[in-house]
Amino acid sequence: MIAPAEELAVLAADAIEALLRREPATVLGLATGSSPLKVYDELARRHEQEGLSFARARGFMLDEYVGLAADHPERYRNVIDTEIASRVDFAPGAVQGPDGLADDLPAACAAYERAIAGAGGVDVQLLGIGTDGHIAFNEPGSSLASRTRIKTLTRQTRVDNARFFDDDVDQVPTHCLTQGLGTIMDARHLVLLATGRHKAEAVHQLVEGPISAMWPATVMQMHPHATVLVDDAAASRLQLGDYYRQTFESKPGWQGL
Ligand code: GLP
Repeated sequence: MIAPAEELAVLAADAIEALLRREPATVLGLATGSSPLKVYDELARRHEQEGLSFARARGFMLDEYVGLAADHPERYRNVIDTEIASRVDFAPGAVQGPDGLADDLPAACAAYERAIAGAGGVDVQLLGIGTDGHIAFNEPGSSLASRTRIKTLTRQTRVDNARFFDDDVDQVPTHCLTQGLGTIMDARHLVLLATGRHKAEAVHQLVEGPISAMWPATVMQMHPHATVLVDDAAASRLQLGDYYRQTFESKPGWQGL
């Protein structure tokens, strides 16, 4: 779907709201990065003004930096608390993330996989995309079947994320824990948001490129229910952009995402 960023956020929030109203004990997959921020704003607004409740829902984060102090503002756990968890009525402990401060990181990854499975799996997974085509922190070369594990961040990702660390790439951690591509693919609905021209090549590869570990997001082509929400700039390299626009404009009986 190609539309202005504000509209995309409303569509993504509609999909989450529909799920919550149908099944209040729903499991949400929460992403960090700037892409989902407008969705979180919209969900927080609906919670405040329209009574949308997350009281019985659970949330699982995609990824976490390794080694950032518990109170570091850029620790993803804290980012998710600030951007969404603390703004709505999740029950205490209902939002979980991989533990980047664990002594035994592989054990923490395995425990995280068990926690997601134990909750019955993720119903809707929000996603952004890196300029190199990563989703969560599955960098190029990631196994398309990977599970939650430790990854080394690429220089490109660390440079991209330096804006959150006083523009100092050396402050960006070198490692992370991330849900694998196989983990993400188990979610029942994937909703990816991307805006801006710097995402155009990654979006083109994601939607139209050959499936390849070199562009990890291309694995989504194999998902039975994946929605890609992009603005004009992020859509600017799509070969079949006009066709996608036409498809959505003429879709009969529009039922949401
Ligand atoms: C980070 C996150 C990803 C996110 C990506 C893009 O690397 N781990 O989950 O999709 O950044 O971020 P942004 O949405 O800020 O462009």
